[in-house]
Amino acid sequence: MKVLVTGGAGFVGTNLVLSLLEHGYDVKIFDDLSTGLKQNIPKDADFINASILDTNNLNNAIKDCDVVVHLGARGSVPRSIRDPIATHDVNSTGTLNVLEAARGSGSHYIFSSSSSVYGSNMTLPKNEDMVLRPLTPYAASKMSGEALSLAYAKSYGLPVSTFRFFNIFGPWQRPDHEYAAVLPKWISKCINGDEIEIFGDGLQTRDFTYVGTVVNIILSCISKKILHPEPVNLAYGNNISLNQVLEIMNINFPTLNVKYLPPRKGDVLHSKNDPKLIKALYPDITRDKFEVSLQKTIDWFKN
Ligand SMILES: NC(=O)c1ccc[n+]([C@@H]2O[C@H](COP(=O)([O-])OP(=O)(O)OC[C@H]3O[C@@H](n4cnc5c(N)ncnc54)[C@H](O)[C@@H]3O)[C@@H](O)[C@H]2O)c1
Repeated sequence: MKVLVTGGAGFVGTNLVLSLLEHGYDVKIFDDLSTGLKQNIPKDADFINASILDTNNLNNAIKDCDVVVHLGARGSVPRSIRDPIATHDVNSTGTLNVLEAARGSGSHYIFSSSSSVYGSNMTLPKNEDMVLRPLTPYAASKMSGEALSLAYAKSYGLPVSTFRFFNIFGPWQRPDHEYAAVLPKWISKCINGDEIEIFGDGLQTRDFTYVGTVVNIILSCISKKILHPEPVNLAYGNNISLNQVLEIMNINFPTLNVKYLPPRKGDVLHSKNDPKLIKALYPDITRDKFEVSLQKTIDWFKN
């Protein structure tokens, strides 16, 4: 079975590609290396260095693939606020291009959306029936990707599975760019003996999801061909505060230095999913406890 992964040189993509290869799949990576890294690409995978805006290359790459996992995206909320058109181009038009190529080949199409689509809807825990109120161009572009994926399933019978990712963490996540996520940034700072900064009192909570769980869900989605064109929230109702994260990090880095800064405008205080649907669709997926996954991640970064 041949699987093409857009964004396969990025954080989630690298973890997924390694696992797909281990399970004996033929893997093609389609990535323009805008945030992904060439050194992450295993030699056993085919690599096409191109953008999803290049439709010729994309159609050619996808035409013999059974499955397309579409992870390629221009990430980061602040970056989308600075340059909404570039975000729209890659995340909306690019997603349309991937769907159109998948339609041509009849591939099983798996899409990665984001919990940011809930935006100003503050109701907790989140579930899939709630109203979406995107606050940023990034969230709007992911919402458009969800809508297009649903439309392709309904209009053309394309086999589609759509997930909304929450805060994913784990090995291969980059700590070193301007828009890095909080966990890799903190771990890297601790390893270098640098001070950690928290905006607010640290009581804000996140539904952190280990990348190994995300990979297991996608593998199961591929092997059992579990179709669900309406988005499925991929998070398990974790309710971890940033201060709790610090407590675990403190065990590894006893001299940890933390500076509390005023809260940032627009930061969401709490994020939590109701995992009823993901558990019903994927009852066999077992998960590590957050403490165990964070420890694995810290060990990976140390090594
Ligand atoms: N990591 C999270 O917590 C999280 C949360 C919600 C949603 N998501 C979504 O999951 C997906 C994977 O996220 P990630 O954390 O691995 O991000 P990442 O930035 O590490 O990976 C994205 C990959 O896409 C590639 N890419 C960007 N623009 C491209 C283009 N025009 N053509 C081809 N490739 C392109 C990048 O080079 C990179 O390798 C993204 O769609 C992201 O929006 C991630």
